[in-house]
Amino acid sequence: MTHAQPASTPRRILLLGSGELGKELTISLKRLGREVIAVDSYPNAPAMQVADSHVVIDMTDPDALRALVEEVHPDCVVPEVEAIATEVLVELEADAGVRVVPTANAVLATMDRQRIRAVAAELDGVRTSAFAFASSPQEIRDALEITGLPAFIKPTMSSSGHGQSRITSIEEVDAAWAAACEGARSRTGRVIVEEEVRFDSEITLLTIRSLDPLSGEVLTSFAAPIGHRQVDGDYVESWQPAEISPLALAQCQDMARAVTTALTALGPGLGLGLFGVEFFIQGDEAWFSELSPRPHDTGMTTMMTQTQSEFDLHARAILGLPVDPALAHVGASAVITSTRAVADPVYRGMTQALACADDLRIFGKPVFRAGRRLGVVLAKGDTTDQARSRAQAGAQAIEVIEADAQEAEAQGEGES
Ligand SMILES: Nc1ncnc2c1ncn2[C@@H]1O[C@H](COP(=O)(O)OP(=O)(O)OP(=O)(O)O)[C@@H](O)[C@H]1O
Ligand SMILES: [Mg+2]
Repeated sequence: MTHAQPASTPRRILLLGSGELGKELTISLKRLGREVIAVDSYPNAPAMQVADSHVVIDMTDPDALRALVEEVHPDCVVPEVEAIATEVLVELEADAGVRVVPTANAVLATMDRQRIRAVAAELDGVRTSAFAFASSPQEIRDALEITGLPAFIKPTMSSSGHGQSRITSIEEVDAAWAAACEGARSRTGRVIVEEEVRFDSEITLLTIRSLDPLSGEVLTSFAAPIGHRQVDGDYVESWQPAEISPLALAQCQDMARAVTTALTALGPGLGLGLFGVEFFIQGDEAWFSELSPRPHDTGMTTMMTQTQSEFDLHARAILGLPVDPALAHVGASAVITSTRAVADPVYRGMTQALACADDLRIFGKPVFRAGRRLGVVLAKGDTTDQARSRAQAGAQAIEVIEADAQEAEAQGEGES
């Protein structure tokens, strides 16, 4: 029996984006003895706190990004966010042989709804909502002939629900166009108009392209589906496994395999890594929505539910190591947010949170606005409902307060 080895296994990894997902990925890579250089636009970002070294640059500046990659000379570049001058990565991959995870073209396609829809719509068996693109309010009105109402209007380049509207009447078109222009990450002057899918639930299917240790071929595997709830474009809780019909799950797996294969088929390289593929489910039917070519925020629940979290899976897949995405426990995650901006945050209520739930992560991010995601509480359960309520109770027990308010309180207690 021969065990295949990837051509070269990366040692030095340049992580573009240093948020909470990047922090956990860095920890997974460090456990496997890799060097991680964490990059973001501000110092002391979560992944920088655990990486070997860090660099602060504007990753949307093509010249700065190119200079950084040329200077660091990494074995591979791992994007963690969408807001990157990805066209530079495409050039570096093509001209200088820089390895980008999963591939630079896949990263480019998934950051733009127009490109990813073009890939998905070509594929047999991949069902999406009816959609059309529009470059003016009038074109939106024309697109509504195809999609009907209610419809979703989204900038072609945006994430976390930014610039997105759900409209129920023609009168709302102008406001939706203005919101999309305002909320777009990059001013493409174009929006997607999507039919509303009346779903019972939505899921993320973590899909992993890894090397089969025996054959050396790329193997596509799947984690158990993750259910989640979104409020204003941001996830607030997720759980695993999501209870969906076996028929719908089989459709999701077929679609996820087809889309991730097509996305990475252009190469170069094998397109190894983990993808978060989003679907809407109604009964036995599934609709492909979009995907991330990297760990997904709703997948944070796998830090409790799987022996190999989505971060371990991504790290292993990138390094050419075998993966095991099996579910180990039923569980859930609930997001910790702050109700206000806090200059110097401390987190109160951790003891109570851990009495309700099993574990938590505090990301160590600056709290410069209300509603920012600051941590996550993780819980197991006999059922997903039980795990969800334990995680929710834990998240509610955490309060984010100013460090000096806590000090003043402690002094007050000391004096009385
Ligand atoms: N066509 C649709 N029909 C029904 N619901 C939709 C549709 N499009 C979006 N939604 C709802 O809005 C949420 C966010 O949409 P989408 O995932 O496209 O946006 P996003 O900005 O990329 O969000 P994120 O980056 O957080 O994944 C979906 O998870 C779903 O709840
Ligand atoms: Mg989404």
